[in-house]
Amino acid sequence: MRSHCLPALVLAALSLSACGDAQPAPADATALDAPADASTADVATRDATDAASALIDDRFTQRQWEMLRRMSPVPAMPANPTNRFADNPQAAALGRMIFEDRGFSRGAQVACASCHDRARLFTDGRPLAEAQMPVMRGRRNTPTLLYAGWGRWKLWDGGADTLWAQPILAIENPHEHDFTRVEVARHVAEAYRAPWEALFGPLPPLDDTTRFPARAKPGDAAWRAMRPDDQDAINRIAANLGKALEAFERTLVPGRSAFDRYMAGDREAMTPEQRDGLKLFITLSCINCHLGPLFTDDQFHALRMPDDSTAGPDRGRAEGLATAAENVLGARSVYSDDRTVYAPAEPNSGAVVGQFRTPTLRGVALTAPYGHAGTLATLEEVIAHDAAGGLPLADPRAQGTVDPALIPFAPLPREVAALVSFLRALTPDEYVAR
Ligand code: HEC
Ligand code: HEC
Repeated sequence: MRSHCLPALVLAALSLSACGDAQPAPADATALDAPADASTADVATRDATDAASALIDDRFTQRQWEMLRRMSPVPAMPANPTNRFADNPQAAALGRMIFEDRGFSRGAQVACASCHDRARLFTDGRPLAEAQMPVMRGRRNTPTLLYAGWGRWKLWDGGADTLWAQPILAIENPHEHDFTRVEVARHVAEAYRAPWEALFGPLPPLDDTTRFPARAKPGDAAWRAMRPDDQDAINRIAANLGKALEAFERTLVPGRSAFDRYMAGDREAMTPEQRDGLKLFITLSCINCHLGPLFTDDQFHALRMPDDSTAGPDRGRAEGLATAAENVLGARSVYSDDRTVYAPAEPNSGAVVGQFRTPTLRGVALTAPYGHAGTLATLEEVIAHDAAGGLPLADPRAQGTVDPALIPFAPLPREVAALVSFLRALTPDEYVAR
């Protein structure tokens, strides 16, 4: 853990113990250490047992409270042993420059920061990402990067199996940077040679255009014509670019939210309406998937949220598995600094069609519009969609079968208001530590 992250975490830890007397001690240490995906059916049975005991904050059973205790504070960012530069400050400084550099795109028009805008919690406020002139529109909504250092799978469909495997996908996406990895290498050599070579070693002789064509990426003829060792040198540059960007992304440290202060013992940190909303978050099944401190199980589920009809149906996880398999970069690739830490992805069973990764709900009030295709404009619309149990099977705008963990419900208007109000309590106070 880098030292600049420590104050917030130390504070959080202190406030937890300082307020401990306001909260019941957990029944035993193992209850808190239980896996984050402890089933809610289990909670329901246990609830019956402790129904007679006093409710916490007039709302929560002991068992519910224990579950909530596991959702705050956000724990220290886990290490990523597949990237040995993950916590290297020089790599982070380089990654920060690259993040804002339009030179890694066709016609120097797009930077990562063009879509991941700091002021919007690193999103763009648009339903679907846009880039390039004339405007090229993608088919997915831009997610926040603030919590990207937690969890294994990246992208809505898990198309990247580790954070540093993601950038080359954006860079070579014709709807995003529309660049190629050979062009990436050349721009690195032009703009960053000294700091790059100090970190990652010498660059190959990119001036030799017979060996390194102007534009080449896997899948095209120019790439196939290259020598395997030259392809390898270029892939390594793409991997290191990803590793520097990950190092930068890992410096984005979110602050605490009203929910965290409430869980640390400050009951007034959330309004009574927000506390009712938190209770509904449990009873209306939201917590079946949005659980743990990041409000996500890091798994994939189909909710049949509408795709943009002009962009066509999106097969979600079924595509993500293919993307990750085709990408020569990844946690288990030769460019990984530890190929053993992560198990391989599950095989594509067909059941994964239309599944998307459960997004974090921390900061969600600032990242409208919602869903993988940005088709739900407000939090109220998301709740209405979930209450209805997703789009009907006959609707061609969605794929897959709705996950049974989403239990349809008929909320009263005040319940919708309370849930939305609670989601606003997840906004971090401040989100960049430096
Ligand atoms: C044209 C807009 C656009 C640009 C430019 C762009 N992104 Fe993104 N970013 C997106 C969209 C859209 C997604 C979701 C794509 C998906 O899941 O299929 C995304 C997803 C991500 C994610 C995954 C986050 C998560 O938790 O799953 C990361 C990390 C990321 N981008 C970083 C970057 C970096 C680094 C760059 C620059 C190399 C970049 N992006 C450039 C729009 C953009
Ligand atoms: C079965 C698991 C599951 C349950 C239950 C569930 N969600 Fe989700 N939630 C997801 C997944 C997966 C997505 C992304 C789906 C997509 O984009 O197609 C999502 C998306 C969202 C979003 C949009 C976030 C964004 O950044 O776009 C919000 C808000 C949300 N859920 C809130 C809730 C609330 C409130 C409830 C309870 C009423 C709930 N969810 C129940 C899995 C679940």
